[in-house]
Formats: sequence, structure tokens, C-alpha cells
Amino acid sequence: MSPDPSPRRARYPLRLRRRPVRWERQVPTWRQARPAVITGALQRALARPSGNWFVVGATADVTSTRPLSGTVAGTEVVVWRDARGRLVGGPGQCPHLGAPLADSPVRCGTLVCHWHGLSLDGSAYVGWEPLPVHDDGVLVWVRLDAVGGEEPTRAPVVPVRPAPAASVHAVWTGVGTCEPRDVVANRLDPWHGAWLHPYSFVDLTVVRAPGDGQDDDTFVVDVSFRLARRVVVPVRAEFTAPEPRTVLMRITEGEGVGSVVETHATPLGPDGLGRPRTAVVEAVVATSQRPGFALARALAPALRPLMRTAAGRLWRDDLAYAGRLRDLRERGMKEKGTTMAKNTESRKNTKDTKDTRHAENTNETGNGKGEKLVQGDEVTWNSHGSTTEGTVEGEITRRTEAAGRTVDASPDDPQYEVRSAKSGKPAVHDPSALRKKRTGD
Ligand code: FES
Ligand SMILES: [Fe+2]
Repeated sequence: MSPDPSPRRARYPLRLRRRPVRWERQVPTWRQARPAVITGALQRALARPSGNWFVVGATADVTSTRPLSGTVAGTEVVVWRDARGRLVGGPGQCPHLGAPLADSPVRCGTLVCHWHGLSLDGSAYVGWEPLPVHDDGVLVWVRLDAVGGEEPTRAPVVPVRPAPAASVHAVWTGVGTCEPRDVVANRLDPWHGAWLHPYSFVDLTVVRAPGDGQDDDTFVVDVSFRLARRVVVPVRAEFTAPEPRTVLMRITEGEGVGSVVETHATPLGPDGLGRPRTAVVEAVVATSQRPGFALARALAPALRPLMRTAAGRLWRDDLAYAGRLRDLRERGMKEKGTTMAKNTESRKNTKDTKDTRHAENTNETGNGKGEKLVQGDEVTWNSHGSTTEGTVEGEITRRTEAAGRTVDASPDDPQYEVRSAKSGKPAVHDPSALRKKRTGD
């Protein structure tokens, strides 16, 4: 249904959109984006083996003097290069008194604890046991059998990438309030691309989805990457989930065939409010057969920040999407929402598309007084006689410390943690004190 031709490689990489369609006039995708298809693909992804491997971060962040550290499901880990340049790693707590080894320097391949000087060369020492680690050249992985609970494997499931000598890569990392499955679910919904990210994607058509009479679990998507208002790069891309915490996008036609975007979701552990946090580590590995790509490779140091900026912009919205999925699940409303979607779908032949779209895109939830709010909602409240604007960070349903005080909340009497847009400071308010902002407020 794309108004432009198929994305085969053209003489020039860029194209002018011949018949640009306004955002609100593009074909709605909600009928194709059936919850059952997305959930089915997600469940099959979650059932694939990972061998208990988790992405920690970018290979480039392990330097000769600093380790790379991270938290996986509440377990601190640290990795560095030993005297022979091999990646080594293990628990991120010093075996002496528990110093954070993330803050310790590496000297000649030895990690030296900055509290009392205990040295680790990567082998077992006074209670510190190394963990299996893997460097795939772009990303660093650690194997945590106690966390994964699966049959361990010798190496992680690393997607096939373009050859390093013919590619440019960049890694972006962000954190969301959600679980890894929410990140994967977001990526297994290609239909949202041109609706949620119109600044990056236009003319998106899902050519094939799992369940379309195909055996494999691949989504095939025609989409144009938007570089300027009408200047686009059309491609065909395939989305797959090779393991439970990875979604792979590979360009199969058009510019940059073979380029991949790998999205890896690593569980970090709960935040101060008990909500799950997940790190998204996204590796973009771009390649092109164009002669000019050699120049692009030479410019890689300058290109990487741009690639990261593009990924960060998309993930701002996608992490809100993933956080919302988690929030709905938490509130037990996911099933209800699915039922609503089914009911709406059953009416699809009798309901005018425009009306339905209007209903879906219009916020019709009350006047804001005491209503249910979710992470990311923009709200206002009165503070010292004036109106303050901010964003909901989360619901508090138990007695906890937040915004510098003890909050006495319960499931029947929840409070909301909000962050002021002006001061950036957190605050906690009763639902009745918060007013949800509406379009036009
Ligand atoms: S805590 Fe690391 S040497 Fe004492
Ligand atoms: Fe997205």
C-alpha cells in the first residue's frame, strides 16, 4: 500500500517522496497490528534459548584502563581486559568489603580495588569467582546461570552482521521502567513505526507478519527512513527475535542491504519504587556497497554520535510504549484492553474507519480529578499557589521512601511520584491533587 515504488536499490540512495501523505491521513495500521499476532510472536521469542547470556554494553566501552560494569537482574557485574587483552569479568563487588569494582581502575590488565588495593587478574581469588563473558566485537555479554535459569551455552546467540571492515557501528544504551519482554513486544509491533515515529519513518507497510500462512516468525516491512521533509531512503527490512531478549532488524532490499539494528533488553532490577528497570542496548551496524561508503567509514567517529542521537530519539518514544505495556500488565488491564481490541475488531466492517481512528486517538478519560494515571502522563498540580507542570514517574502502592520523605501509600490509597518540568525535582502527590493535561491545555 506504499504509494512509492518498492525499495530496490536505486541509482541514488535518497529519494524524494512523490506523493507525501500527511500523518493523520496515512492508512491506520491497528487492524493489522492484531494483539494476538504480536503476543504470539512475543511468546515464541520468549521460549527461545538464550543460554543465560545477557548484554552488558559496548565492546568499545571496555578500555585498557577502565572496566565496564552493569547490573543484571540485581547482580552487579564488571568486565575488563586482562594482561593478554582477553575479556574477563565477574561479580561487581570486591570480595574484601564489597567496594563497587565499577569504580576501580585497570592497571596492566589487573583490576585494582580502589578501597584497599585488592588486585584481580580475572581468575578466582579469595572468594571472587569469574563469570563466563563474551566479546562479539560490538557488544560484551555475561552469562549468569542463576538469573537465566536455562541450559547454559558456550556463547550467546549473536546475529550475523556485516563484516567489520565493511561496516560502521554505533551502540546506544537507555533505561526504561519495564521488563525485557515489553521492549521485545515493542519491537515485534512494526505497525507503530510511521504512527509513533513520523519524524523517522514514513510510508510503512507490513508486507508479511507471522501467521500470514508462513512458517517462519519473520516480519517483513517496507518503510522509508525520513532524512528531511520529503527526502527519504526506502528499504525493505525483516524483523526477527533470535533469542528472548533480542530483536534483530536486517535490511534486505534497498539502500544498505545487510545492515542490521540489534535491540537487546537486559533486566537491571527494581527501582526505588519496586518497578522493574530494563536497559536497552541497541547496536546499529551499517554497511553499503556504494563507493562513497568508504568515506563514511573514515568518518565513523563523527557518524557515531549522529547514529546514537537517532536511536535515542526513537527510544524515548519506544521506552514510553514499553513502560505503558508493563504498566497495563501490572494493573491487570492488559486482558481487558485485548478484549476491547477484539470487540472493536469485530465491529470493523460496520464502523467507519475515520470515526474509529478518532475515537482511538482522542483522550476520553474524565477530567483528571483522581483518575488513574500512568508513567509518562503529563500533569499539573498546585504548588505554593501557582500551577506546576510535570510528568508522572510512577504509581506508589506501598509505604516507601520517595522524593525525600516517607510515603504512606497502599493499593487502595495510591500516590503518584511526579517530576516537575521546571525544576526537575521529584514530588509525591495524591491522585486528587493531580490534573492530567489534555491536548490544548
Ligand atoms: S573493599 Fe576492595 S580491597 Fe577492600
Ligand atoms: Fe518504535
